[in-house]
Amino acid sequence: MKVGVPTEIKADEYRVAITPAGVRELAERGHEVLIQAGAGEGSAIPDAAYEAQGARIVPDAAAVFEQAEMVMKVKEPQPPEVEMLREGQTLFTYLHLAPDPELTRGLQDSGAICVAYETVEDEHGRLPLLAPMSEIAGKIATQAGAFFLEKPLGGRGILLGGVPGVPAANVMVIGGGAVGMNAAFIAIGMEADTFVFDVSIDRLRELDVAFGGRCSTVFSSVLAIEEMLPRADLVIGAVLVPGARAPKVVRREQLKLMKRNAVLVDVAIDQGGCFETSRPTTHRDPTFEVDGITHYCVANMPGAVPITSTYALTNATQPYAVAIADRGVAAAAAEDPGLALGVNVAGGAITHPAVAEAVGGEHVPLEHALALETQKA
Ligand SMILES: NC(=O)c1ccc[n+]([C@@H]2O[C@H](COP(=O)([O-])OP(=O)(O)OC[C@H]3O[C@@H](n4cnc5c(N)ncnc54)[C@H](O)[C@@H]3O)[C@@H](O)[C@H]2O)c1
Repeated sequence: MKVGVPTEIKADEYRVAITPAGVRELAERGHEVLIQAGAGEGSAIPDAAYEAQGARIVPDAAAVFEQAEMVMKVKEPQPPEVEMLREGQTLFTYLHLAPDPELTRGLQDSGAICVAYETVEDEHGRLPLLAPMSEIAGKIATQAGAFFLEKPLGGRGILLGGVPGVPAANVMVIGGGAVGMNAAFIAIGMEADTFVFDVSIDRLRELDVAFGGRCSTVFSSVLAIEEMLPRADLVIGAVLVPGARAPKVVRREQLKLMKRNAVLVDVAIDQGGCFETSRPTTHRDPTFEVDGITHYCVANMPGAVPITSTYALTNATQPYAVAIADRGVAAAAAEDPGLALGVNVAGGAITHPAVAEAVGGEHVPLEHALALETQKA
């Protein structure tokens, strides 16, 4: 198969979808890899490093999209990229379609088979292609929150860990999955008083063991959240219902319960945000204020640390890229039901039930969509 990797064009996105190690794995199996010139620069990977492992460097994104049978990316395709997709082509990337009916429609119209990293599941129902980015975003969330709590940056002016004789700040993490656990790890490491909220008691049990009692776990409910908000200096939103829009766990009227210049970090912003007052921001302009509360809502947080995140992402995507390149999406998905769950759009249809529900579209089972695709071909 011809596998193509364009340069990411979303604002402040420096990751790339493949490393030289990934090129080598595909090349060893007889696949051809096309890389847009300069695609790895943001992650400190020169074209020559790709070429040395067998990749062919092409001058622009148009050449990648025109020649590749599978396009591998990091972020959801931007409008000029959607225009270049074609029928039967495979797109393998983060898509985050639930909050974006327009992109969903664009992908349907393209006729491409679009596999979303974030809805691929492993045999335990976990999200192996979201997890590494979630680990990074969780760690950044606490770091960013601590930074924006500084007074000159508009924050309350409190140090997360306090000092002997002065109390630490309170960090409230809502959603104790991969993001939440890592956010809490850093908050505990910075010696903040840390509280993790989740609706899954099993998850709270796991966290209690993992943290060895160094953080409080709280069963999440509207009342429990309202009782904690007045005490919190930093609130990190990290909830997820896979494929669906994020549930709103803090509403606008609840902001008045909070301390002035406290900080909200909405990591779930890529699924529409879990605070009612959130809207996506960029690394260049990461925060805004609503009712005296600083909001940090960067939609591609791991993009800020590409040297870590490109390798963390590609370590996880590589086996799936190899499976799709070796066998094609239909056969690879038939063999691996977890990969099948990654197919969000195929042959003009929405094939993931939660995405269909979120964007108000019709859900077509994957087998039907792929059968139509085969008939057309
Ligand atoms: N902004 C970014 O750059 C970035 C990067 C990575 C991940 N994310 C996003 O962060 C979010 C969390 O990802 P994750 O990998 O940690 O997911 P996860 O599935 O590992 O964890 C989500 C947790 O939320 C809990 N939850 C669900 N509904 C809840 C509710 N109403 N109240 C409290 N807890 C609830 C679940 O039980 C689960 O433990 C996702 O939306 C993901 O897309 C954003």
